[in-house]
Amino acid sequence: MHEILDIIRKRQSTRIPFNSERPIREEDLKQILEAGRWAPTAHNMQNFQIIIVDDKKVLDAIEKIETMVSETFIQENLEQLSFSEEELLKKKVGILGTMFPPAWKTPGYKPHEDRDSIRPVQKSPVLLIVVYDPRRRAPDSEGDFLGIVSLGCVMENMWLMANSLGISFHVVSAIGRGPVEKEIRSILNIPDHLKIPFAFRLGYPVSPAAKNLRVRRDIEDFTHHNRFGNRYKNLESDL
Ligand SMILES: Cc1cc2nc3c(=O)[nH]c(=O)nc-3n(C[C@H](O)[C@H](O)[C@H](O)COP(=O)(O)O)c2cc1C
Repeated sequence: MHEILDIIRKRQSTRIPFNSERPIREEDLKQILEAGRWAPTAHNMQNFQIIIVDDKKVLDAIEKIETMVSETFIQENLEQLSFSEEELLKKKVGILGTMFPPAWKTPGYKPHEDRDSIRPVQKSPVLLIVVYDPRRRAPDSEGDFLGIVSLGCVMENMWLMANSLGISFHVVSAIGRGPVEKEIRSILNIPDHLKIPFAFRLGYPVSPAAKNLRVRRDIEDFTHHNRFGNRYKNLESDL
């Protein structure tokens, strides 16, 4: 039991280039896919396909794709940022602003093509592109909410498996938007009716990853007892 909790607590995002010369062992990749295969999905619809990209030329083409960060991203990202470790520790939600260029942390900043082009997919020996068919929604699920939650379950299963094998993992959601999506679709021959919610980069960092400060709310911050607003107090036992 504690082993599972330990793996869950240690799972983390690694947002740096991975060594493209160090492949993922086939049996490890199979285990990661097996973990995705057994993910719970609404109505057991298993509403996903995964494109495994390990061809260097294809990876190279994807890594070269450039896009401009959107104004919406800049604005909404800013709302989630803390500007010091102390602030983040106090807030217990969000991420550290040090991950982003200084200009993106200026309220009202308007991105510009010359300064704010990014390559959203950094190097990795394997890229897994998740696609799904929004026409096959879970029964009575507005906006296919349940189908999309299901994709999150697939993501988490695969992420936990990868990290427990010592393989770093990075979710890239920019892959499903704007010009990046268009180019990926064309490079990988993805039919128009399929959506691309995210991709996962798998690999081993080229240099040791800096230790990110990772914070979470306490259990009492998000629990209610029997009715909303009543604090849940049975939290004495040490986990
Ligand atoms: C649905 C979803 C989309 C995400 N998209 C991105 C992304 O595009 N780029 C990124 O660097 N991290 C992405 N993340 C990772 C989160 O930022 C990360 O899980 C969160 O900050 C907590 O950090 P941790 O994973 O190290 O615990 C995504 C996570 C989820 C669940």
